[in-house]
Amino acid sequence: MISYPYLIPISECVSLEKKVNMQLLDGKATAAEIKLELRQVVLKRKEEGKKIPHLAAVLVGNDGGSMTYVNAKVKACDEIGFESTLIRYDETVSEEILLRKIDSLNKDKSIDGFIVQLPLPKHIDELKVTQAIDARKDVDGFHPINLGNMVLNLPGFLPATPAGIVELLKRNNVETEGKSCVIIGRSNIVGTPLSIMLGRNKSPGNCTVTLTHSRTKNLSEITSKADIIVAAIGKPEFVTADMVKNGAVVVDVGTTRVEDASKARGWALKGDVKFDEVAPKCSYISPVPGGVGPMTIASLMMNTLHAMELKENNK
Ligand code: GUN
Repeated sequence: MISYPYLIPISECVSLEKKVNMQLLDGKATAAEIKLELRQVVLKRKEEGKKIPHLAAVLVGNDGGSMTYVNAKVKACDEIGFESTLIRYDETVSEEILLRKIDSLNKDKSIDGFIVQLPLPKHIDELKVTQAIDARKDVDGFHPINLGNMVLNLPGFLPATPAGIVELLKRNNVETEGKSCVIIGRSNIVGTPLSIMLGRNKSPGNCTVTLTHSRTKNLSEITSKADIIVAAIGKPEFVTADMVKNGAVVVDVGTTRVEDASKARGWALKGDVKFDEVAPKCSYISPVPGGVGPMTIASLMMNTLHAMELKENNK
């Protein structure tokens, strides 16, 4: 029988496909590193008898996700040694009462920065609320002045989630220079600002950014050519393996609660990426939970310290 030693069985051909050495973008560990640095700053300030940063958070209603995020923000303040104040309102609170509270927080000298957790109930105009916050205390970076400064690369507060993503890439030495980056989702608080930040002439940055959204045609064709994919669309497991090229960097911003009877609490947190099938193709991938979420909180803490330092320097 003729044998063909130079022919490789198909089963082995598959294994010849370039193996990717996947690294986890561990947001929890990276955020812990940042919190430790901030804690050192707080300890030094305490020794010097200086003011400790103070963050206030306003939470309206009882949405489970929002409550979890706000509690995590308060807990991070405790860990670092920041002061924190949580202000809670019932779902039915009027816009007027909320705006009055914002006015008093703007004027309160003991508060360095504050946030109003989004989303707000339908009867409250989020834009009006965001614009009512003094830009100097807007540690979420949502105010038009801060967003405008960010676009022009001027000093100001960067929105916490995109800033957290950039910091995550930076601290994990992910190369962005000249890379093609596809962002899925054009929200005001993630996709749109991130598209500016990753396109800037900075490091991390200098990406060629494509901002995709619900009307984008042939999305898979676009994502499968990307060096970096950021999924921020809010659809659980939307990004599948066929949409990702070998060796890509994938950042998952999604945090949707989906029913899960196997969990005592009845739900599980799902990202926008089908992790199990996408991860083996990636050079880097962020998990959910433990990826972007902790980095958003770390950015908020950095912004709060920055707000206090700016106030001190303007004295
Ligand atoms: N809702 C979802 N993300 C955020 C955030 O970063 N800040 C606030 N205030 N609300 C949010």
